[in-house]
Amino acid sequence: MLSTQEQIKTELKTHNAVLVAHYYVDAKLQTLAEATGGIVSDSLEMARFSQNCDAHTIIIAGVKFMGETAKILSPEKRVLVLNSHATCSLDEDCPIDQFSELCDQHPDRIVVVYANTSAQVKARADWVVTSSSALNVVKHLKDNGEKILWAPDKHLGHYVQTQTNANMLLWQGACVVHERFKADALKVLKTLHPEAAVLVHPESPQSVVNLADVVGSTSALIDAVKNRPETTFIVATDNGIFHKMHEVAPNKKLIEAPTMGEGADCESCAHCEWMAMNTLENCLNTLQIGNNEIFINTDICKKAKNAIQKLLDFTV
Ligand code: 13P
Ligand code: SF4
Repeated sequence: MLSTQEQIKTELKTHNAVLVAHYYVDAKLQTLAEATGGIVSDSLEMARFSQNCDAHTIIIAGVKFMGETAKILSPEKRVLVLNSHATCSLDEDCPIDQFSELCDQHPDRIVVVYANTSAQVKARADWVVTSSSALNVVKHLKDNGEKILWAPDKHLGHYVQTQTNANMLLWQGACVVHERFKADALKVLKTLHPEAAVLVHPESPQSVVNLADVVGSTSALIDAVKNRPETTFIVATDNGIFHKMHEVAPNKKLIEAPTMGEGADCESCAHCEWMAMNTLENCLNTLQIGNNEIFINTDICKKAKNAIQKLLDFTV
């Protein structure tokens, strides 16, 4: 009897499919993606890879918006997600009707949305950004004299605003996972590990970002573990990322940033429940049955592609 991994490998070949995984999903899926010619990366590189690869079918191990982004960029490809219920609180917090209303009220502002949004919201935007590109895009827009309407992540938006001094109107969405990181408890942990560098994803609250040595996207935080001289790191992002961090820097010590109250510890709080819906079993199932396919209205697809393509061209 073949293992689930071996069966997935066979199915990927049969369907001319490639597995594209985010750093937060199950380590076994990450390993399999890399072993079969796919990729493990942040959301920007997932999008770029999906667009450039030759595969006929793209299997996204991540959340819904990542599957939609792949489909928008490559409407001719078949894009499947492992679980159609795997969404994101930022996407859920930004319904198209309310968002469109706000855009209509501010025609003088350039609309910039985070990738963690629905296809409809992207179609209403001028630019799509990811955490690795938000600062540079907003700087560029500000230098061109633009005022910005930003959605949906208020924490990332606030971070970008303070770094760039841009005029930004912020939607008030948040990531339920990063919101759980607590500054008071992090201060205590820092005193216990004064040698550690603190790495923070910018979806975290400002009080946590203020304690960081490095603020950056998932790929920037992995690079920091690999390249910085410190041997201990306190990490404030989804703990799925620890797999890749251990792989690139096996001798470094990684500590989860605290997620509850002062000194409290919570094992699963720093893991996204939607990312956790991605398993080897549903990967095999999806390949065998061909379910969970992403379909997007052609007009929405075209409009959303304009906004994403601007980002891909900007970040080449
Ligand atoms: P990255 O683009 O940094 O990988 O972030 C995606 C995400 O959903 C973080 O919560
Ligand atoms: Fe969304 Fe947060 Fe999960 Fe990332 S970690 S997918 S931002 S809910």
